[in-house]
Amino acid sequence: MKTYLVTGGAGFIGSNFIHYMFEKYGDEIRIVNVDALTYAGNLENLKAVADRKNYRFVKADIRDAAAINKIFDEEDVDYVVNFAAESHVDRSIENPGIFVETNVLGTCVMLNAARAAWAEGEGFREGKRFLHVSTDEVYGSLDNDDDYFYETTPYDPHSPYSASKASSDFLVKSYVDTYHFPALITNCSNNYGPFQFPEKLIPLIINNALAGKQLPVYGDGKNVRDWLYVEDHAKGIDMVINGGRTGEKYNIGGHNEKQNIEIIHIILDTLRDILPESDERRKNVSDGLITYVTDRKGHDKRYAIAPDKIKKELGWEPETRFEQGIRRTVRWYLENEEWLKGVTSGDYQKYYERMYAGR
Ligand code: NAD
Ligand code: TYD
Repeated sequence: MKTYLVTGGAGFIGSNFIHYMFEKYGDEIRIVNVDALTYAGNLENLKAVADRKNYRFVKADIRDAAAINKIFDEEDVDYVVNFAAESHVDRSIENPGIFVETNVLGTCVMLNAARAAWAEGEGFREGKRFLHVSTDEVYGSLDNDDDYFYETTPYDPHSPYSASKASSDFLVKSYVDTYHFPALITNCSNNYGPFQFPEKLIPLIINNALAGKQLPVYGDGKNVRDWLYVEDHAKGIDMVINGGRTGEKYNIGGHNEKQNIEIIHIILDTLRDILPESDERRKNVSDGLITYVTDRKGHDKRYAIAPDKIKKELGWEPETRFEQGIRRTVRWYLENEEWLKGVTSGDYQKYYERMYAGR
């Protein structure tokens, strides 16, 4: 039985990954979820698996070397999947320091702990692997519609978030090059789906539209992101950790590039389509809520992934078409209003007011 140490498993992608893995492997695997439960981490996301015998949650900070080493002492970890990070670009513009601490120093702590625990002779015990989950934002911004990010595209990060992720990727690579440490990196495009915190575009637009609040569009709304349903990302991570070549990096993305303004219109149309006339929330949903606001500083124009390598080497293909995925996502938010209320109260409210005031 393989033991996976998943960091950041209470966040958006991490929790979807844990659900995906238990659905696929059932009792054949053990998952230890290590999460500091920042504003973005929520154990509600994992209610359905909390009582499983082959699941353990540990509240710990990846910057805390003693706490992380202790987990490696207690568990015979086979695979690390490192999701834990500060993940929101706008927050990184406000406060870059925490991004360096968690994303760079935290990753260093994880690498050191795994390196020490897995050491054997001059190398490492057989079968151990460390997958570092990263983003396509490390490659910077594309100017033309027919340009794509390949694994060979030079890094050119622009935001403190992407710079911190780029730094962590280089750190992981340095452990591969220096110690022959068995690590792999995935660089994925923008994810969407259940459990995404409503500071990110898609859940923010759903949440605001239902409440009849402004839908803030940064700049001209023509920035392009390449959207992937979160379960397809989980599938890619599973394939890479179980079948990828050690020391390699893999881009994950499903060729689904859309302008932000298109995404907003699709969400509004989907809400109008799903909500019955009798639902009170339906009358709030209106194109009139769309509001062009001051652009994000250093706003990357276009992201687009070329997934040729993961397709060719591992046979990965996205399974969820965008029309299907966005419908499923909108429906999930409609059916999980309590979850949404829980995460949007308190600190998030203050963040929102600060971030969008005077924009
Ligand atoms: P998220 O913000 O929803 O979740 C991050 C999780 O990490 C939370 O549960 C949080 O509590 C935890 N965490 C934060 N700091 C921690 C610390 N110091 N110690 C332990 N846990 C800590 O993020 P997400 O969107 O799920 O992203 C997960 C990973 O995937 C990140 O590494 C991100 O860079 C990467 N990624 C995200 C996207 C996307 O579209 N969201 C795309 C590509 C890659
Ligand atoms: P976001 O979900 O923050 O992801 P990322 O910046 O990591 O790509 O933003 C997606 C796109 O949507 C990005 O181009 C910025 C834009 N955006 C808005 O126009 N309005 C908003 O309120 C937010 C949060 C994002």
